[in-house]
Amino acid sequence: MSSVFVSGLLAGKVAFVTGGGSGIGAGIAMRLAAQGARVGLLGRKRDKLDRTAAAIGDAASVHAADVRDYEAVSAAIEACAAAHGRLDIVVNSAAGNFLAPAAALSANGFRSVIDIDLCGTFNVSRAAFAHLSKQGGSIVSITATQAHVATPLQCHAGAAKAGIEKLTRDLALEWSRFGIRVNAVAPGPIEGTEGMARLAPPGASEEALRRRVPLGRWGTIDEICDAVVFLVSPSGAFITGSTLLIDGGTSLLGPGPFLDLLG
Ligand code: NAP
Ligand code: COA
Repeated sequence: MSSVFVSGLLAGKVAFVTGGGSGIGAGIAMRLAAQGARVGLLGRKRDKLDRTAAAIGDAASVHAADVRDYEAVSAAIEACAAAHGRLDIVVNSAAGNFLAPAAALSANGFRSVIDIDLCGTFNVSRAAFAHLSKQGGSIVSITATQAHVATPLQCHAGAAKAGIEKLTRDLALEWSRFGIRVNAVAPGPIEGTEGMARLAPPGASEEALRRRVPLGRWGTIDEICDAVVFLVSPSGAFITGSTLLIDGGTSLLGPGPFLDLLG
């Protein structure tokens, strides 16, 4: 049986989670550990990583690095694989975002988000390849609905996330022969996260925002964790190159929900 509801599904596996110090990445790291995996956590701020590691216990290792720095990322992945003996799963959840109108966004602001999200995802995936290809493995990148629908004040993040989804398909094709599956999960608005704190329109009531989601509510970190476990587990063994949208139907409505912010 290969159901995602079996406990200990990931026993013996080792995962590396970027952005594992907070929000969705921390939730994913804790869930993978709860399913039996040992987990390496990467982010820039060690105190945040330490908090997630403390919640996981001995199965966690902490690797402070910036995903934009390939050498540092590579050293972190080597340290994780050395600490746990192997590497099977990579989750790219590190990202940066803020609301900014394109006409006022500096070139460096645009580049920073592309560097963290898109180049960071390549850096981590590329640095993990040698380990994943030893016995086969799985990569899941966290993208966003901004990759699918035009979204005001989000051109930097939308371009980065769309790039990650294209990279996902290309790596899936090239690396299938090595037994590496590459997929993405595109969340809509997820409650209790830094992303929603930064990107919800200032002044809009939660009730008004929830009404813009066809299913009438925001998603939960747990629901994103469910999808990641499904994709990396034997239940997802025939899935590669896919993006799973988990957005309560938000992207079905067309342009992102902040259109009225354009003024
Ligand atoms: P979050 O808590 O801010 O998570 C982002 C993480 O990335 C942080 O832990 C941050 O830690 C790390 N990070 C940022 N820049 C980094 C860098 N240069 N190098 C290494 N680590 C870096 O936000 P979140 O809302 O949970 O978002 C997690 C993921 O879900 C992101 O990919 C986001 O785009 C996606 N997403 C979120 C939502 C939502 O509603 N929240 C919706 C769609 C998609 P440090 O600051 O310590 O580096
Ligand atoms: N509006 C417009 N431009 C902004 C901005 C904002 N709110 N925040 C940052 N920028 C610009 C800066 O002005 C700078 O450009 P400049 O040199 O032309 O002035 C550029 O972005 C880089 O800013 P900096 O603060 O040096 O970047 P950083 O590498 O330290 O941090 C960020 C990256 C900006 C993405 C930062 O918000 C971050 O670390 N985010 C991580 C957490 C996060 O975003 N979580 C939500 C995920 S959905």
